Amino acid sequence: MTAPFIVLEGLDGAGTTTQLAALGEALAEAGAQVLITREPTTGPVGRVLRRSLAGDADAPPMAALPWLFAADRADHVFREIEPSRAKGVWVLSDRYVPSSLAYQSLTLPLEEVMALNAAFPAPDLLVFVDVPVDVGLARVHARGGPREIFERRDRLVPVAEAYERVLARLAARGDVIRRVDGTADVQTVTAAVIAAVKEVVGWPSSSNSPA
Ligand code: TYD
Repeated sequence: MTAPFIVLEGLDGAGTTTQLAALGEALAEAGAQVLITREPTTGPVGRVLRRSLAGDADAPPMAALPWLFAADRADHVFREIEPSRAKGVWVLSDRYVPSSLAYQSLTLPLEEVMALNAAFPAPDLLVFVDVPVDVGLARVHARGGPREIFERRDRLVPVAEAYERVLARLAARGDVIRRVDGTADVQTVTAAVIAAVKEVVGWPSSSNSPA
């Protein structure tokens, strides 16, 4: 039986990485086998993407990213996501198709980004961790370190608007989406994410527990 596939999305600084780790821990405690993964991946295309996101002048420019993220996703789906699910491993991904639809629609019409991503399987549940742009940016700044190309107000404002259009489009085609308020404290957000998983996907029963 194919195991669930759950995606967390949100603006930079929304806290998807923290929340995915907490969800993974809760699922593992309940006896599930869990793969926590992310896009861009750690694979060959993902490594090129990291250089583009860092603003490396030798790496592919922003306008090339729709195709590169789709290529990285193909690698992710065929090499990790599908084989893991087939083995009964719950797959939790930090970002997936909706990130491309939101971020890459800055440089390519949404319809074209949708076409590039049409073949990838929809997750069983998409959780959108909702934070205002300025809250996300403040967290990114507080984290310190080098700034990535999308971590700027003039880019994140249109990305936030694009996410709203994208969530409406995905909901209209039948994708299952739950929004959680990402401005609450970490434990409160985790509780909301877990509640969404229990409601939509269910929770591992003890019969799934490792012996
Ligand atoms: P992020 O997930 O915030 O990771 P980190 O904490 O390591 O910076 O950064 C990934 C960035 O890549 C983020 O700005 C969104 C962007 N992105 C896209 O533009 N398109 C995509 O398809 C994906 C998966 C990410």
